[in-house]
Order: sequence, then structure tokens, then C-alpha cells
Amino acid sequence: MVRHLRSLQDFTKDELGGFIQRALELKKERQDGLQHRLLDGKTIGLIFEKPSTRTRVSFEAAMYGLGGQVIFLSGRDTQLARSEPLKDMARVMARYVDGLVVRTFGQDVVDELARYSSVPVVNALSDLHHPCQILSDVMTVIEKKGPIETLKIAWVGDGNNVANSWIQAAEILGFELILACPEGYDPDPGILHKGRSNAAKPIVLVRSPEQAVAEADVINVDVWTSMGKEGEEESRLEAFRGYQMNNGLLAKAPPEAIVLHCLPAHRGEEITAEVLESERCVAFDQAENKMHMHKAILEKLIGG
Ligand code: CP
Ligand code: NVA
Repeated sequence: MVRHLRSLQDFTKDELGGFIQRALELKKERQDGLQHRLLDGKTIGLIFEKPSTRTRVSFEAAMYGLGGQVIFLSGRDTQLARSEPLKDMARVMARYVDGLVVRTFGQDVVDELARYSSVPVVNALSDLHHPCQILSDVMTVIEKKGPIETLKIAWVGDGNNVANSWIQAAEILGFELILACPEGYDPDPGILHKGRSNAAKPIVLVRSPEQAVAEADVINVDVWTSMGKEGEEESRLEAFRGYQMNNGLLAKAPPEAIVLHCLPAHRGEEITAEVLESERCVAFDQAENKMHMHKAILEKLIGG
């Protein structure tokens, strides 16, 4: 059966744990100088309708690092830009490649490609989810702080795609999550409701960033204006005033709490340069871990 990674919900707790364990192993093996040919002869297609630095390059590096090949397609260069139906695109691409990695706007695009593709489709960010990011972020948290079930994770800022995937991770993996979002910028209500109904540990939404960080082991920050929302930038700057991760807010958190940012960062908006460049912030380790995690994902999904 073809497995897709449309959101974290496509995998069980054990399977998500398996991705993390394998990514940690692959990281160690790379550090030890071990070369892999696990995906020799395999090819993935990357279809990206939004910009990307980390996700694109880490998927490409992961695939080449496992002996495979990559074909990159920017959305505007395919016939999708001229309204070719997604179901046709999916069936054609599946005849050429062994997996599709897709970054797009609507989650419906990812879902439709997956419905018609006979090869695995991986969501490399949609407006609703960023599952691969959260897997590598959880890996980073485990590396830095130990088992995530024992930790309290905070989110400060927009209830965006990354926040939605953190909620799904909390639901499936069973850790405490507290989100502070300004009114009007809550996470997806369906994802939040389902997460809260099923989770073993509390998933809490508050308005106060100070309350969110007060007992946190890990504090997550992301941009205030996600890709596709650029037209709202001015009103967002206003709405998120007071949600900046700065030394003042960090001082309200426990002294051993670490800060995560999936990057790209906007210094002076959601995070100050001081915090981003400080030892408390592990953003660049997160960025590295994306490559190890993408290897683990590709190996499981297309390695057979
Ligand atoms: N974190 C992340 O997804 O970065 P990119 O947009 O550069 O891929
Ligand atoms: N929430 C951000 C994440 C970027 C990696 C966005 O969607 O633009």
C-alpha cells in the first residue's frame, strides 16, 4: 500500500517515533562518515509552488545522500500554472518518479495529488500543515531535552500551519502544549478541537505569551506573516505586537527553556536578534535536522 505524508495524522505514534529514531541514527552515521546507497536508482519529484530554502535543499541533499536523484519543478514552470488538473499531474508524475514532495497553498492540492498518485506524496508545507518540519523539530527537542512526553512545549504567535502540525504532534505523541495566539489568529479550529478531544495531555490556547512560556521547557516561534498572507502584513504587525520573543519574554520562562524557530526568521519582528543568536535558541540545529529527518521519511516511504 502506498503511504502518503499529507499530515502527521497519516502515521501512528509508533511510526512517528520510528522516523525520529531513524533520523537520529542516520545523523550519527553521517557524523561517523558512513555512506548510504539506500535509495540507489530511485528518483523523487519536488513540486514547489512557494519559495523554500531549507526544505528544498534538505530534501535534495537527503535524496542525494542516500544515492537517489531529484527533479525539481517550481509551480510556475509546470502545466499546473496553466490549469492542468491535479489528478492528471499526479498520474503522469507517478509514471516518472518514485515519490512526490509538494509545497503548495491549499491542503486540498496535497490531498488531491495523493488521491491520484500511485507513488508516495509528502507534504513539504501547505497553508494548513508543515508535518516534516515538526518531525525534525521534535527530533531536535528530544536531542536537547530528552523524551518529549515529559516536557511542556509552548507556541507563541500565529496559529499557522506550523502551529497546527504541533497540535497534531501533541495529540499523537502525547505531550503538553500551550499556545499563545492573539485573538483572530487561532490555530485551525477543527485541528484544535480534535487534538484536545483525543490528547492524553492538555492542549491549551491562551492569549498571554507570558502565561505560555511561564513553565515551558521549549518555546516555539514562527513568522507573523506566513507565505501567502503578505497582503495582511500591516495588520499582522499590529496584531502580534506583544508576541515578540525577546529577552523580556524569555526572562519569564524557566532558565533552562530553549527557543525553537523553524526559520526563516524576521529579526525585530517575531524574534529579536539577541534571542535568535543566543545559546538558548536552537534554530540552526533544527535546520540541520531537517535533512536527517527527510532521509528517514524518504527511506520509509520510497525505500520499500
Ligand atoms: N523551515 C522551512 O520550511 O524553511 P524553508 O521555507 O526555507 O523551506
Ligand atoms: N509559517 C511559515 C513557515 C515557513 C517555513 C510559512 O508558512 O510561511
